[in-house]
Amino acid sequence: MIDHEILDDGDAIRLTWPDGVAARFHAVWLRDNALDPETRAVGNGQRLIAIGDIPHETRIGAAEGGDALTVSFAPEGKTVTFPAAWLRAHAYDRQEIRAPGWLRDTVEIWQGALAVPCEEFTRLENDRGALGGWLADVRRYGFAKVTGGPVESGALLRVAGLFGYVRETNYGKWFEVRTEVNPTNLAYTGLGLQAHTDNPYRDPVPTMQILYCLENSAEGGESMVVDGFAAALRLRDEDARRFDLLSRYCARFEYAGSAGVRLTARRPMIELAPDGELIGVRFNNRSTAPILDVPYDDMAAYYAAYRRWAEIIDDPSMAVAFKLSPGESFIVDNTRVMHARRGYSGAGSRWLQGCYPDRDGLLSTLAAMEAETREAAE
Ligand code: FE2
Repeated sequence: MIDHEILDDGDAIRLTWPDGVAARFHAVWLRDNALDPETRAVGNGQRLIAIGDIPHETRIGAAEGGDALTVSFAPEGKTVTFPAAWLRAHAYDRQEIRAPGWLRDTVEIWQGALAVPCEEFTRLENDRGALGGWLADVRRYGFAKVTGGPVESGALLRVAGLFGYVRETNYGKWFEVRTEVNPTNLAYTGLGLQAHTDNPYRDPVPTMQILYCLENSAEGGESMVVDGFAAALRLRDEDARRFDLLSRYCARFEYAGSAGVRLTARRPMIELAPDGELIGVRFNNRSTAPILDVPYDDMAAYYAAYRRWAEIIDDPSMAVAFKLSPGESFIVDNTRVMHARRGYSGAGSRWLQGCYPDRDGLLSTLAAMEAETREAAE
């Protein structure tokens, strides 16, 4: 049973659930979100009205509580019912103030002690529960590993096909990350790569990356991942001004490394939604262009913030490291988790293939699977 009290001559209503939780809803909000078949299409759930179809003076004329809330809107004289659970799930009347850098509750930050989230390729292909758990780990931690996949060129597309679609770029549908280590000259070692996000010069940036191992017989060459959100929040907690500088001003990124390509993007290194939600990071020393959008008076402080953030990212305690064997791969949320490669040396070869699936497809597949599970349980 929900209790109600009409507020402000019907401009709003306060609902109180049996456990004492209360929330206010505006009349115009309830009218816009009515669940009846004239407002929402029965088949696809899409809204059939536009904002202009709602009278300016819309208010709640009458209401009746119970297991659901039935509301009559004046002046339309329209009566609609909202399930109590739907209202509870969609309450927006919250008091807490969110600090800049807040995270949604499906996201959990981590440092080097995290156990690598991992699942077997055949289980992902054949077991919906295993796939759902693995996708939820990707959403939560921003990366996960896959073991036991086929050792064949292009197999990375089968990993992407588990949940979505690959974005084709000027590097192709997938690209080769291949270095032969010269066994006759140990001076030619595979250089390590600093932790980075890929292709910050694209707009939109690639949202996920899969790196799939086909050969890895060289010594070293471990993959490392660093939670860019954890690094950004560590910077904030050390020095809020530095976090503010990297999130308030845009950096610039560019790539003009092959003929006919001149990619540029202008975005902050730490990206916040207008309400302060931490939604993305970009960090890549190789493709950071001259930064032109920081005022002269803030540039020195900006560089100090950039330097300190890089130190945090390079701090070994932030990194989770693992070596990929042939047939193993990992996926990273490229808007959040940085990846790196340790240097490698000695005889042998290292051959990886990479591709950029889109994250919206991954999150959509996961949400649909979760809705299916909820409906089956009801
Ligand atoms: Fe990379």
